[in-house]
Amino acid sequence: MGILLETNKLTKHYGKLTAVNQLDLKIEEGQVFGMLGPNGSGKTTTLGMVLGVTERSSGDFTWFGGENGPETRKKIGAILERPIFFPGYSAVENLKIVAKIKGINTTNMEHVLRMVQLYERRNDRFGAYSLGMKQRLAIAAAMLCDPKALILDEPTNGLDPEGIAQIREIIVNIAGMGKSIILASHLLDEVQKVCSSCIILRKGELVFQGAVSADMGTSKRVEVDAPEQDLLREALKNTPFVLDVEVSKQGFLVSLEAGQDAFTLNKYLQDQGMVLSHLQTLKKSLEEQFLEIVNKS
Ligand SMILES: Nc1ncnc2c1ncn2[C@@H]1O[C@H](COP(=O)(O)OP(=O)(O)OP(=O)(O)O)[C@@H](O)[C@H]1O
Ligand SMILES: [Mg+2]
Repeated sequence: MGILLETNKLTKHYGKLTAVNQLDLKIEEGQVFGMLGPNGSGKTTTLGMVLGVTERSSGDFTWFGGENGPETRKKIGAILERPIFFPGYSAVENLKIVAKIKGINTTNMEHVLRMVQLYERRNDRFGAYSLGMKQRLAIAAAMLCDPKALILDEPTNGLDPEGIAQIREIIVNIAGMGKSIILASHLLDEVQKVCSSCIILRKGELVFQGAVSADMGTSKRVEVDAPEQDLLREALKNTPFVLDVEVSKQGFLVSLEAGQDAFTLNKYLQDQGMVLSHLQTLKKSLEEQFLEIVNKS
C-alpha cells in the first residue's frame, strides 16, 4: 500500500491565530483514517488546505506519494461543508447537475445511489429529504467520479442515531471497496467505530498519531482490594512504582509506572504481607486517553 497523503510542516495562520501549526502527517492508502480533535482544533482548516480550497501559510503536501497537480484533485471526493443541492430537484437531477459542473459522466449514478441507500428515493425532491438523506446524497455526489479517496468532514453532525448508523455503514462499505477515507470528527466514538488509525489535533498541533486500537498511553491501571482497606492504602502509598491511588467502586484504582503491571504489583504487595481479595487490570479506554490528551494545556 502506498501513501495517500503526506504533509510537511503544513501551517495556517489567521492573523495572530495559528489554526494549524507545522503539521507533519503521513497517511497510508487503503484505510479509514480518523482526524480527531475538539472544536476549533484545525481539522477543517487542514482538510481545506490539502484540498486546495484554503490557502496555506507555509509548508506543503502531496497526495498519492508525490502528486500535487490539478489532475490529483479529481481522484479525491470530498464533503467539507454541507453541500448545496437544489431543493426542488430530485436526487437524480441534482447528481446530473453535479456531473455537469465537474465535467464527468453519469454512468456511475445508479451505483452511487445504491451505495448510499437512496436508490428507492432517487426521484423524490431533495427538499423533502431528511438531514441524513441529504448527507447521504452528498456522499453519492462525492463518489460520482469514482475517486480513489474520500474526505469527510463531520459527516454525522446533526443526525439522529439511526442516521449516524447509516452513514457509518456506508463509510465501512466504501472502505471495503478499497477506497481510502479520511474522516474528521470531534467525536471519539465515531473515530473508534470506523477508523483503523487516527491523529488527534489540539489547537492546530498534532498530539497523537497511531492505531485506534493500540494503547495511547503507557501507564497501566489496576483495581485492587483487600479485607483491610486502610492497610492496603498504606501499602499502595509505599509502593515505589505506584503513581496514583484513587478510591473506586471496588477498592482502589492504582496507576502504575510504565513497565509495571498487575503481576508485579501483586507480588510486591505479597512481599509486604498484603493479601489481595481483588485484582483487575483496567485498560484505559480510548475515551479517557482522548480526554486526557485534549484537556492537557
Ligand atoms: N476563515 C477563518 N478566519 C479566521 N479564523 C478561522 C477561519 N477558519 C477557521 N478559523 C479558526 O481556526 C481555528 C481552527 O478552526 P477549524 O475550523 O479548522 O477547526 P475544526 O477542528 O474544524 O473545528 P470544528 O470541530 O468546530 O469543526 C479556530 O480557532 C477557528 O476559529
Ligand atoms: Mg471543522
